[in-house]
Amino acid sequence: MNEPALTIKNLEKTYASGTQALKGVSLEVPSGDFFALLGPNGAGKTTLIGIVTGLVTKTAGSVSVHGIDIEKEPEWTRALIGLCGQEINFDPWMKPLDVVVNQAGYYGIPRSVAIPRAKKILGDLGLGDKMDQIGFRLSGGMKRRLMIARALIHEPKFLILDEPTAGVDVELRRSMWDYLTALTKQGITILLTTHYLEEAERLASHVAIINKGEIILAGSMEEVLKTHEGGTSGYGGGKLEDIFVKLTSEQT
Ligand SMILES: Nc1ncnc2c1ncn2[C@@H]1O[C@H](COP(=O)(O)OP(=O)(O)OP(=O)(O)O)[C@@H](O)[C@H]1O
Ligand SMILES: [Mg+2]
Repeated sequence: MNEPALTIKNLEKTYASGTQALKGVSLEVPSGDFFALLGPNGAGKTTLIGIVTGLVTKTAGSVSVHGIDIEKEPEWTRALIGLCGQEINFDPWMKPLDVVVNQAGYYGIPRSVAIPRAKKILGDLGLGDKMDQIGFRLSGGMKRRLMIARALIHEPKFLILDEPTAGVDVELRRSMWDYLTALTKQGITILLTTHYLEEAERLASHVAIINKGEIILAGSMEEVLKTHEGGTSGYGGGKLEDIFVKLTSEQT
């Protein structure tokens, strides 16, 4: 029951191009946690998520989701996970309701169950009046929310979001963070990446900072913030931002 939602050990990924995207990453996401995976562009976040969700093959190391090895039981672990990827990747000609209901089909959920469930999730995400209009007419922020709705349709225990708030305005970002926080209160574990460090500081309970394929700092938000002495640098971001900038610029 108290197995971590995610256990990663010595994970390595070298792409065919020779790029070493992950250089021995170990990480644990406690069950029920709100976990922020932070790192500059190209640090390896999406690669890590790709491996956990079965989209990218690892070079070495091991990954377990709720104690289940992703290689031994890939279908099982995939069913436990909901993924909201970094790229908008639904068919723009489809209606939001169909995008979500079709996804349910991949998990064997009958349409009679999927349709009311999809309507409820879309409504909760503020897309109730958009679900029957063609996808490409949605705004950028609405597209992101549709991706979240699609990720939730099979009621995953573990939701992974790769920059869900990228390009989303401040008010909507706040409502998305509230929505995600409410999900963790229902027992869903969340792992997300974001470049909004101040928001991560306020909302995540654990954090890991990855740089050039290596974890350079990880722990509870409290522990991580304690590594920083004194006040903030005056750039308007929080302490976490100062820690992030210091650590990621040190490693050249
Ligand atoms: N399919 C691929 N083939 C070759 N190299 C790749 C591939 N995908 C990613 N990379 C490389 O792996 C490294 C890590 O990329 P990744 O997308 O995991 O970073 P990221 O932390 O998600 O960055 P961002 O914040 O910009 O999304 C980069 O150097 C990138 O160019
Ligand atoms: Mg990425």
